[in-house]
Amino acid sequence: MTGASAGIGAEYARQLARRGCDVILVARRADRLETLAREIGTETGRKVTAITADLADPRGVRSLLDQITTLPDMLVNNAGRGAYGPAVEAPMETVLGMVRLNTEALTVLSLELGRKMAARGSGCILNVASTIGYQPVPYFAVYAATKAYVLSFSEALAAELYPKGVRVFTVSPGATQSEFGAVAGVPAAFAGFGAPAAALVRRSLDACERQVWGDSYIDGALNRAGTVISQLTPSFLLTHFTAGLLRPR
Ligand SMILES: NC(=O)c1ccc[n+]([C@@H]2O[C@H](COP(=O)([O-])OP(=O)(O)OC[C@H]3O[C@@H](n4cnc5c(N)ncnc54)[C@H](OP(=O)(O)O)[C@@H]3O)[C@@H](O)[C@H]2O)c1
Repeated sequence: MTGASAGIGAEYARQLARRGCDVILVARRADRLETLAREIGTETGRKVTAITADLADPRGVRSLLDQITTLPDMLVNNAGRGAYGPAVEAPMETVLGMVRLNTEALTVLSLELGRKMAARGSGCILNVASTIGYQPVPYFAVYAATKAYVLSFSEALAAELYPKGVRVFTVSPGATQSEFGAVAGVPAAFAGFGAPAAALVRRSLDACERQVWGDSYIDGALNRAGTVISQLTPSFLLTHFTAGLLRPR
């Protein structure tokens, strides 16, 4: 369970433990992970392990893989971050760190564990994308592109691994209450709304278990309608309209 120290990831960890899973919590903030591990362990009686790793650094991803000695039944690639603002003004280290975290780490973990799951003949990989991945988004240009990558990669991998007994399930949340906006630098006017993380996680795990959503789940009827409309609208109209809405004031 990557990105388990906050928001959507902490909620996946809680709910997976309540559904009977032992959980390995992964993020950078060790104190948060330890507190959550105690909370979940006390509530559910499941075994909860905390591993500290910076997944924006390829060495952090390798170190995590080295510490996972028993192949898990499920991998949740949830860790991710956004960055709001003019793309050309963002510090390059922020941009590249986001690309590495949102795409490279997710890819390496999916492929390394996916290969072993395929050899075993069972497993599930749940990758967290975003509704923002369904369209180019000015002022979230790099973040939206990383999530388009997650969608494309995960849906293709799902078809490759399906015959080998491994399910790859992609979850696209819409706006969700978490620390995401504060980390991304989203202005107060856009922040503070969105679905509760607990509700998103429950719906997406139900969809994953029941397999009613094929390989890719978009959370919420309005978000599903929004992705259809955005895919039917000419890209230049969509991007210029969105730029007007999101341009920093
Ligand atoms: N909230 C939304 O509106 C929304 C909408 C669509 C999709 N999503 C996606 O949902 C996922 C979870 O986001 P969230 O909303 O729960 O955000 P969040 O509250 O900011 O949580 C992000 C998690 O990722 C971890 N993380 C960040 N950088 C990391 C790094 N370098 N190495 C390891 N872990 C790192 C954070 O832990 P540490 O800081 O302790 O490392 C934290 O646990 C992300 O992939 C995000 O893109 C969110």
